[in-house]
Amino acid sequence: MKEIIVSHPLVKHKLTMLRDVNTDSPKFRALVDELVYLLAFEATRDVETEQIEITTPIQKTMGTVLKSTPTPVIVPILRAGLGLLQGMSQVLPTAEIGFLGMRRDEDTLEIETYANRLPKSLVGRTVFLLDPMLATGGSTIAAINFLKELGAKTIVSVNLLAAPEGLKRVSEEFGDSIDLTVVVAGVDEKLNENGYIVPGLGDAGDRLYGVVD
Ligand code: PRP
Ligand code: URA
Repeated sequence: MKEIIVSHPLVKHKLTMLRDVNTDSPKFRALVDELVYLLAFEATRDVETEQIEITTPIQKTMGTVLKSTPTPVIVPILRAGLGLLQGMSQVLPTAEIGFLGMRRDEDTLEIETYANRLPKSLVGRTVFLLDPMLATGGSTIAAINFLKELGAKTIVSVNLLAAPEGLKRVSEEFGDSIDLTVVVAGVDEKLNENGYIVPGLGDAGDRLYGVVD
């Protein structure tokens, strides 16, 4: 597993605003949207391209465009991953979008999958998996297992914050069995006894969309 920490002043600034308990939901959503654009530069660094001929107002020339096949896929993990979807899909407009709905039981930290709308086959395709938080790593591992099962060639997990414990667990789970890169804006100190990232930003889903039971 490859790990890319996007250490850029703009990313650090926006992440700090995001962490602030006084940042309300509309501002939080806007910051997440801005952050995903910045992370997308790293996340899409190895995306496949091809050469085409175009005509500028001056003359014919060759240019580079994104290859449309095999079609990349973006998969947000509901709910909080939805916050990253708009930005990522604007960066990669040709991508198809699949959905995984997952909920972490806050007592056991076990993952329940309540929605699965993925393309039938991911053979040969690159999947951008979106979730703001990689805490224990349970949700990411469960999601990657679905993607692996469908034959995904490359998986890029795009996260805002990760805990060292979660990164280690994901890395140990998959080793070199799959081409996996984690792109993250920040790696925090640790998990607390409730499985929350410290210092973190709290519950990403609640901060994006409000508290639900
Ligand atoms: C949060 C978060 C991740 C998961 C991370 O989702 O968005 O999906 O927890 O924790 P883990 O690494 O320990 O699995 P949650 O289950 O709270 O659902 P939500 O997005 O609907 O709020
Ligand atoms: N899920 C969140 O939303 N935040 C955390 O810190 C851990 C899991």
